[in-house]
Amino acid sequence: MERGKTFKLAAASVFAVLSLGIMKGGAAAPAREVSPAAAVDQFAQKCALCHGKDGHGLPSWKAKGQPDFTDAQWQKGHTDAQIAETVRNGKGKYMPSFKGKLSEADITAVVAKVRSFGKKN
Ligand code: HEC
Repeated sequence: MERGKTFKLAAASVFAVLSLGIMKGGAAAPAREVSPAAAVDQFAQKCALCHGKDGHGLPSWKAKGQPDFTDAQWQKGHTDAQIAETVRNGKGKYMPSFKGKLSEADITAVVAKVRSFGKKN
């Protein structure tokens, strides 16, 4: 009797440790997708070629009306919603639309990135 009970207890704790391990692995995966590093990558991959890694913009594009994201006046004059709208639908002749190319989460992340350029100065 006593031995049977001990065996059952041991088996139960092995099972508990195993399933804890599986749960841990499952929970870690989605957290990685929304890491800040991924947000930095979206801007670096899709925006930096025109806006520069530092958000200042490039001379050839500035001549076509591109703003400097580090400019405090520009930051004050635009809401998050306006920036998100520009990313979704594009602006003027040269700023492309990212509709279908960036998810809403990605757009939120690049808006935060655009904002971060204003905070450095
Ligand atoms: C092909 C070059 C190019 C790429 C790529 C590009 N932009 Fe632009 N962007 C421009 C130009 C040019 C303007 C100025 C448009 C105008 O005012 O006519 C602009 C304007 C903007 C503005 C200002 C809009 C306003 O109302 O003043 C924001 C915000 C912006 N871009 C964000 C982004 C983000 C975020 C990305 C990446 C997802 C991106 N851009 C990718 C060229 C680009």
